[in-house]
This record gives sequence, C-alpha cells and structure tokens, in this order.
Amino acid sequence: MSTATGHAPGKIILLGEHGVVYGHRAIASAVSLGTTVRLRRRAGTTCMDQPWADDPRLQAALLTVLDEEGIGVQIESNLPIGRGMGSSAALAVALGRARAALAGEEASNDRIDRDAWAVERVFHGSPSGIDHTVSMSGGAVLYRKTADAPQITPLHLPPIPLVVIDSGSAGDTAAMVQGVRDRRPAVDSLLQEIGALVEDVAPQLANADLSGLGPAMQENHALLQGIGVSNETLDALVDLCMATGAQGAKLAGAGGGGIVIALAQDRKAVLDAARAAGFDAWKITIGSQA
Ligand code: PMV
Repeated sequence: MSTATGHAPGKIILLGEHGVVYGHRAIASAVSLGTTVRLRRRAGTTCMDQPWADDPRLQAALLTVLDEEGIGVQIESNLPIGRGMGSSAALAVALGRARAALAGEEASNDRIDRDAWAVERVFHGSPSGIDHTVSMSGGAVLYRKTADAPQITPLHLPPIPLVVIDSGSAGDTAAMVQGVRDRRPAVDSLLQEIGALVEDVAPQLANADLSGLGPAMQENHALLQGIGVSNETLDALVDLCMATGAQGAKLAGAGGGGIVIALAQDRKAVLDAARAAGFDAWKITIGSQA
C-alpha cells in the first residue's frame, strides 16, 4: 500500500487520575472527538509532511512506530492539545493503526497496544496506560495498572451529560506526575482516597445510578487539590460550575492546566457562565448515548 489512514478517539477521565499511576482504579471514557493519521510512502526521512503542534517530542514519537525512512505523515485532530483529553493517546493509537494498514497487516490489538505504549512513553515518561487503553477500546473502562498486564474492565455507563471547559492553558502530564511522585509518601493517603471514590461510584454507575457521581467529582477535585495538581483557574472554574447548578465538577487529566468537566442537568447555564467568563466550553455526553 502507498497510503494508509488510522483513526482513534480521545478520552476524559471521569474519576481517578493520578491515583491510577499507583495501582488504584480509575474510570475513563472515550469521547467523540479524535485524531486521524495519514501515512504515505515517499522518498526521504520519515517525518511530518505538514507543520503540526510545535512539539520537539513528536518526531521521536513517530520513529518509535514507523521506519526511519520513506514515510510522510499528516495528522488531523479536533482534540484540544495538552488539555487532558488524550490527544497524545489518540495520536499513538491512530499512528499504530495507520502503520498496520500501510504494512497491509491486520491491526492486532497487541501490536497497537505496544506501539501506543512506546509513543505515550515519549510524551509522558511513565504513564499508567489508561489513556491509550480507552482510546483503543472506545466506550468506558475501569482501569487498574498492575506490575503485569493492566486489569481492564469494560464499564457500561448510562448517558452522562457533561460540560467540558478549557482552562486556556496546557498541563504538562510528565511534570505533573513527577510532582506528585516528589510529594510522596505525604500524599499517599490522598491517592488512596481517590481510588476509594472510584470503588464506591463504579458499581453505582454500572447500575445507571448517577446520584453519587456529582459529590464524588467534588471530592475528587478536592483530593487533586490536596496532591498539588490543581491551580487557581481550575479551582475557579469548578466553583463557577457549582455556582451555576452543576451536580459536581473537577479537573480532568493531569492538571496544572487542561480542562474542567462538570456534571450538569442544566448544561446551558454552565456553558453560558463559562463562555461569559471568557472560556471555551462545550457539551459532551459519554455513556450509551455518546
Ligand atoms: O494525559 P492526561 O492529562 O489525561 O493525564 C493522564 C492521567 C494521569 O493519571 C495523570 C497520568 C497517567 O498516566 O495515568
């Protein structure tokens, strides 16, 4: 084949980021936004054929999956970059799928998983693997990292109406994860509490019961503040969501920037307030209506 395409969705972490790095469980869901990678065989060094995100790690990431010579790469994405919506994981999985298609191979999950881990390590150092796992599987998962293969449990979520607000700055996942590592063991009990929230809420969600989710998101945000990954803008956005009637809100992803997600029955009120305050915000539904 001389050209090939791969696509993969981004994700949001509903509950449990950072705890998941230390073996606690987290819940993440794929979203309808995603990334497409197009490859074409051509002479010369393998590299981007068009300018894309000014990120020095990109070329190294491409070469963890592709041959060093002979491939031109194009990327298209409607995911905000570096906002905790899994832009690097979607790129990783889409790239693995495109590579397999270019080689004329059946895209085996094992191989895509291996490629995606390699790309994610370039961007994030030592990720838990939750981002690319949910990007590969689609839908929602309950995820636990172990010393061996991760435990991945598909989770059938009811429709969950969320508002996503972009705080306007990117968070650096590797730096945020390192910051938490540096604050251990003082923050270990908070990481454990994050995991306990997931254990409480996952069975409720599996029973289509959303009543505990809002309060759990609130508590999760407070715990993320406690481990030092929130900032003033993220805290102010969570407050704004709660003041406009959301049932719960939290930063989602590594923090230090990125997005806030809010669970809200009246999404318009939250959207209008976020936009009036000058932030990009949009509706997203995860779960069976996604
Ligand atoms: O890449 P982000 O911003 O979605 O963060 C990933 C979630 C973390 O738990 C902070 C890191 C990880 O590897 O799980």
